Amino acid sequence: MSTNTASTTRTPVTVIGLGMMGTALAAAFLGQGHPTTVWNRSPRKTELLTDQGALGADTVGEAVSAGPLVVVCLSNDEAVHQVLDSESENLKGRVLVNLTSSTPEEARTTAAWAERHGIEYLDGAIMAIPPLVGQPQALIFYGGSSRAYSDHEETLRVLGGATTYLGSDTGLPSLYDVALLGILWSTVAGNIHALALVATEGVTAEAFLPYATGWLNHVAVPYLPRLAEEVDRKDYTTDISTLNVNKEAIAHLVSASRSQGVSPDLLLPVQALIERRVARGHGSDSLSSLIEELRKPSA
Ligand SMILES: NC(=O)c1ccc[n+]([C@@H]2O[C@H](COP(=O)([O-])OP(=O)(O)OC[C@H]3O[C@@H](n4cnc5c(N)ncnc54)[C@H](OP(=O)(O)O)[C@@H]3O)[C@@H](O)[C@H]2O)c1
Repeated sequence: MSTNTASTTRTPVTVIGLGMMGTALAAAFLGQGHPTTVWNRSPRKTELLTDQGALGADTVGEAVSAGPLVVVCLSNDEAVHQVLDSESENLKGRVLVNLTSSTPEEARTTAAWAERHGIEYLDGAIMAIPPLVGQPQALIFYGGSSRAYSDHEETLRVLGGATTYLGSDTGLPSLYDVALLGILWSTVAGNIHALALVATEGVTAEAFLPYATGWLNHVAVPYLPRLAEEVDRKDYTTDISTLNVNKEAIAHLVSASRSQGVSPDLLLPVQALIERRVARGHGSDSLSSLIEELRKPSA
């Protein structure tokens, strides 16, 4: 084991997994003076951190036994169990913070495993890329043991200033994570379709960019609070734009795409959803009423 020059006044932390994200997490702890013990399957990745004062553990057991707070960040849930299932005795009485991306079901299963073994558990979802870790705007969701969170909130906030505790349900951080990713992918998909469409007439992505960003900032984003209110109230009356109007508009888009030689594949599911809602007699509703069709996928 190498020597540790970090301060001893801060909570000692262990980081298991030194991929791109785990390295950023460990560096953030070290940067704020937390004595930091690190372990990685491929030992050479520990060098960057031991050079900065981290303790490099030779085994997972040595790493998890080093302090009260163990942060794990591996590729996936399977890897977490491969690494930690045999360490339940060493983890007993400590706080395990799992920042590995997972599904809500996986997170709840890991939480149940931790509870059976007397391990305080927090599941987390990192809504940031490695260079953002440690920055004030970095958002990390947590769910699970409220005692573990309140005991270690200050330390966890080192990883992201926008750290947010969602409550005792360990499945919620993953649910928020995938929900937000869905917004990202559908926004990117809509933009990619638009760029393919305008490119058929020689318009570059750069030339179209101000209109895409303006459209999102001035039309799409301001609609979100109203949409949230409509969904929460289940009141889909609108004086702005009905599904009937949107049914016509998306038909124009699909038709224009085909005639310009662009695949409408990304839009067809949305068109089908709108048409189904209208066919059920909700043509005068707002776009937000499409949520009722998603709630009844088999209908
Ligand atoms: N990178 C991002 O932008 C980002 C953003 C948000 C969330 N995340 C999440 O953070 C987690 C880690 O991502 P990353 O970007 O750090 O990935 P990465 O660079 O590919 O690192 C993966 C890590 O998992 C380890 N690992 C994989 N399988 C293992 C196994 N069976 N046993 C032991 N160790 C194993 C690897 O060890 P070796 O070094 O030995 O291969 C490495 O330390 C993922 O769940 C990811 O979704 C990442």
